[in-house]
Amino acid sequence: MKIIFATGNAGKMKEIREILKDLGMEVLSMKDAGITADIVEDGTTFEENALIKVRAIGPMDDAIILADDSGLEIDALNKEPGVYSARYLGEDTSYEIKNKTIIARLSDTVGSERSCRYRCVIAAMFPDGFENTVSGSMEGVISHFPAGDGGFGYDPIFYIPELKKTVAEMTMDEKNLISHRGLALEGIKPVIKNWLELHA
Ligand code: IMP
Repeated sequence: MKIIFATGNAGKMKEIREILKDLGMEVLSMKDAGITADIVEDGTTFEENALIKVRAIGPMDDAIILADDSGLEIDALNKEPGVYSARYLGEDTSYEIKNKTIIARLSDTVGSERSCRYRCVIAAMFPDGFENTVSGSMEGVISHFPAGDGGFGYDPIFYIPELKKTVAEMTMDEKNLISHRGLALEGIKPVIKNWLELHA
């Protein structure tokens, strides 16, 4: 039994492999598994989109299929970009521009008015068709300037006041311990272990 993770995002795949490595299972991306599916993420919640992704691929006899849907919610922008985080200002617009635009849109806010969170829902589809979802979140504020070159996406402007740094200034291990995706993946691990025990 292996795990196929339904994402084409190399940055995410790197984080996911690291977090799931203690399951001792092979973790393949869709590309690694030779699966090409044109998935239309037209859900309005992270949960709906994560389920759309696993249902587009599974169930499969020899693999547990996982998918995540995640995004950035900025309170002062009515929780934008939310489920549209990847598509914000257009899919092909660089994060340098997306991040600068967000900073500009928040120019008349200070301190906790700049609150935001990353949210992530992981969906799992097992070979018998059983489905489950687990969510995780991480709180922060939008910084006044981008900083750091780790991570991906909105990480350079996602500032964690308690740690006095942006997510892009963290190591991958630091990020995975507290991130929305790290927490959601930790939550799905016991579900996977349980299913495997019951179907050994
Ligand atoms: P998804 O691939 O449809 O789940 O879209 C997730 C999008 O949310 C990404 O493309 C990023 O724009 C944003 N995002 C989610 N998680 C992170 C993260 O850990 N760092 C930076 N951006 C993230």
